[in-house]
Amino acid sequence: MENKLLHTPVLLSEVVKIMAPEPGKMYIDATLGYGGHTLELLKAGASVVGIDQDADILELAQKRITGSGLSANFTSLHSSFASALDGDRLEPSKYSGVLMDLGVSSYQLDTPERGFSFRHDAPLDMRMNKDLAVTAKDLINGLGKNELIELFSTLGEEYAAKKIVAAILDARKTKPIESTAELASLVARNVTRSKSHLHPATKVFQALRMAVNTEREELKAALPSAWSKLTSGGVLVVISFHSLEDEIVKNFFASLKDILEVSDIITPSLDEQYDNRRSRSAKLRYGRKA
Ligand SMILES: C[S@@+](CC[C@H](N)C(=O)[O-])C[C@H]1O[C@@H](n2cnc3c(N)ncnc32)[C@H](O)[C@@H]1O
Repeated sequence: MENKLLHTPVLLSEVVKIMAPEPGKMYIDATLGYGGHTLELLKAGASVVGIDQDADILELAQKRITGSGLSANFTSLHSSFASALDGDRLEPSKYSGVLMDLGVSSYQLDTPERGFSFRHDAPLDMRMNKDLAVTAKDLINGLGKNELIELFSTLGEEYAAKKIVAAILDARKTKPIESTAELASLVARNVTRSKSHLHPATKVFQALRMAVNTEREELKAALPSAWSKLTSGGVLVVISFHSLEDEIVKNFFASLKDILEVSDIITPSLDEQYDNRRSRSAKLRYGRKA
């Protein structure tokens, strides 16, 4: 039976409309996740190469696609998208579309032992790819004062970074910070968010996750490679959840000479935002190759 709760794809109908899948066309889903977007491309008769650096979700997506009887035109690739798209492993100028739906899936957030969420108590891990050497615990206990302030201010846009870092350094004098719950309650004790509905530790967790998985660096490296895979008329679609990522995408499209069409930001409808809270911060941009 299909478990719909593993991840709900955002901006699904918009993505399908922009990518216009049909039999004979080939696509790269660089962030396969639970395969929500890929399934729609496959249902339309297109072929898809699905990349994910998380081996667990890749296996679940593969099962879902096989269970739907759509695996004949699907190939999976366990890799970071920057390295999968680099070089000629995937043939240049061959694909009608590349999709990047950035960040983590609900499956990852809701699996306690992955250590992504302040809602569950687990070791502070946050690696999407378990082969990565550095965990969130290593960063929180190993970085110096200024590095942590920089991390939380930049990637987390956390205005209380200095106060939070002072509390972290103080706690570290006694023992290392090991778990998501320890970090979440330390942040909650030290900051008040009178007007926000977010958990006080949301931004700190987001910053750590982005640093552990070098998310901005991955995106910067992957965009030109993704572009090189497109046929003339092919489209690169990027869904981001953070203004710093959106900025990278916007600047990338602005830097291109061989671009036919570039979109403004597309955001989820109010209905979608209501049905799927996670979609609220989603921003889609696409560019079509000349
Ligand atoms: C938001 S989810 C994608 C959800 C998917 N579109 C769906 O509908 O199920 C993002 C996925 O991309 C993967 N991911 C994030 N950054 C990645 C990277 N640099 N390389 C490969 N996979 C990445 C994550 O492991 C996660 O499974």
